[in-house]
Order: sequence, then structure tokens, then C-alpha cells
Amino acid sequence: MDIVLMGVPGAGKGTQAAKLENTLHCKHISTGDVLRAEIASGSPLGKQIAGIIDGGDLIPDEMMVSILKNAATGTDKGIIFDGFPRTVAQAEMLNNMLGQLGRKLVKAVMIDLSEEAAVKRLCARRQCHLPDGSVHQIGPDFSPEDCRAQGGSLFTRPDDTPEHIRHRLSVYHQQTQPVADFYKTQGIYAQVDGDKDPQQVFAELLAVLQA
Ligand code: AP5
Ligand code: MG
Repeated sequence: MDIVLMGVPGAGKGTQAAKLENTLHCKHISTGDVLRAEIASGSPLGKQIAGIIDGGDLIPDEMMVSILKNAATGTDKGIIFDGFPRTVAQAEMLNNMLGQLGRKLVKAVMIDLSEEAAVKRLCARRQCHLPDGSVHQIGPDFSPEDCRAQGGSLFTRPDDTPEHIRHRLSVYHQQTQPVADFYKTQGIYAQVDGDKDPQQVFAELLAVLQA
């Protein structure tokens, strides 16, 4: 079962995708995480894209699709795409790519959240970077104390400043919102209310996916 999770920055795509990955035994691909790992590796590509991501702009479509193809090839599990596609061109490329791999999207789910709530969440977001390279969201399941106890350090994403958050939201409205209409036309669009407790959002998501 291949699924796209959509939503404004901070809607909870990463939070819900991690839960779905555990429950449905799917592979979670967050393009943001893939890009941040590339930057952390210090590769030439990472150096090329760091400024774009930290500033909240989008990586060019062709580059993004080739990075994604590497991440999506070679698994027979269902894939949860988190943060991809972000433009209608990427949505078309994803359909082509999945077709070539003999796969197909079954649902594109929008996690609906107001801008105001998203800004509040992103300004408060903290992450923990552990020595093994894994990144954990600080929240009910992982506290700052857990982070310190495991030798990790607390971290704020460079694109989580108020100025960058505003820019990311404007990029979202201009370039990513039209992707929802693309999936409506394809008949696979669904929506859940993201402004609830994470467990309630998850229950709604499962209901939509199992409908
Ligand atoms: P990406 O990493 O995808 O960032 P984003 O879309 O801005 O989304 P976030 O990761 O900030 O939010 P989220 O929806 O995952 O929410 P989360 O679960 O963390 O992309 C980053 C950048 O990479 C882009 O700006 C672009 O430059 C580049 N990029 C990525 N994909 C690309 C593409 N396809 N093409 C081109 N460029 C691309 O939750 C947020 C916070 O809220 C957390 O603190 C969490 O604990 C909390 N929270 C979650 N759910 C709830 C809830 N229900 N109630 C209360 N709090 C909650
Ligand atoms: Mg995310």
C-alpha cells in the first residue's frame, strides 16, 4: 500500500508517518529527512542543497525525484511518502516512477491544520540528535531527559525560525497546495483533522486508509 501524506509544515506528517510505519509495517520516506541526512554527510550534493533547505525553498524537481528514486527502489514493503510530492510536476513524476516499479498510490491524505496552529508547533519543536545519528522528536514519547541520558544533544531545525516558517508556509501555498487538487482529480484524495491529539489523528488516518 503506497500512501502520500500531505500537509502544511508542522501538520504532523513525520509524527503520523512514524506511527503508520510501525503499525502497517511500511517504509517511511521523509524527503526532508533524506535531504538533511545528505547535508549531515558533508557530500558535495549536501553542500549544494543546504542553503536551499535551511532557507525554506524547494529543491529543484528533477534533483528531488532522482534522490527519491534511490530511496524508493528495492523495497517490497508499502511506502509512506512524507513531504513528497510538493509540486504538481513531482506528483506526475511520482506516478511515472511508481508505474515503472510496478507500484501504485492508493491514497493521498491531507493532514489539515491551520497556519496559526502550525506556526505555534514549529516554534516549539525540539529534536534530539543521538550519537548513532538517529533523530528523535521531543514530545510525550521522548523527553529532554531521555535525550541527555542517551548521550544526545537537543537541537532546533535551522528552518524553524519565525521568518523561515513564514516563508515555508508561503512556498507551501504557492507550490504544494495545488497537489491536493491533482489527487482529487485522481480520485484518491482524503483528509483528516490534524488539530487533535496525535492518537486521535492516527485513529482517523487508519480509518481513512482502511475505508
Ligand atoms: P520537511 O522536513 O518535509 O519539512 P515540512 O514539510 O516543513 O514539515 P515538517 O517536517 O516541519 O513538519 P511535519 O508535518 O513533519 O510535522 P511534525 O510531525 O514534525 O522538508 C524540509 C525542507 O526540505 C523543505 O522546506 C524543502 O526545502 C526540502 N524538501 C523536502 N521535501 C521536498 C520536496 N519533495 N521537493 C523539494 N524540496 C523538498 O510535527 C511538528 C511538531 O508538532 C513536532 O514538534 C510534533 O511533536 C508536534 N505535533 C505533531 N502532531 C501533533 C499533534 N497532533 N498535536 C500537537 N503537536 C503535534
Ligand atoms: Mg517532517
